[in-house]
Amino acid sequence: MSQAYRTVARVGEISDGACKVVYLDDVAIAVFHIAGHYHAIEDICTHDGGPLAEGYLEGCIIECPRHGAKFDVRTGAVVAMPAMSPVPSYAVRVEGDEIQVEWS
Ligand code: FES
Repeated sequence: MSQAYRTVARVGEISDGACKVVYLDDVAIAVFHIAGHYHAIEDICTHDGGPLAEGYLEGCIIECPRHGAKFDVRTGAVVAMPAMSPVPSYAVRVEGDEIQVEWS
């Protein structure tokens, strides 16, 4: 099965410990750069729609700026309530100097 990837940024564009919000088919995706690795999750908290990219990142854990739910940006898994459901996560690859998110 073939996988489709979309270029969302260039290497060097997202500082270590920062993220960039991109839109793929009108879906907001937060792309994080953590120590040379890139991770992508939907930028919408599953608790009440908070913008996760505006939250506080510690290691690989992002804290929602609204009510403090925490998610692992590597997997989208919830690591602290009040959220109960994971956020969708997406595979990321680097091709040349392009950061690409799997999107089909
Ligand atoms: S909207 Fe994210 S914790 Fe409530």
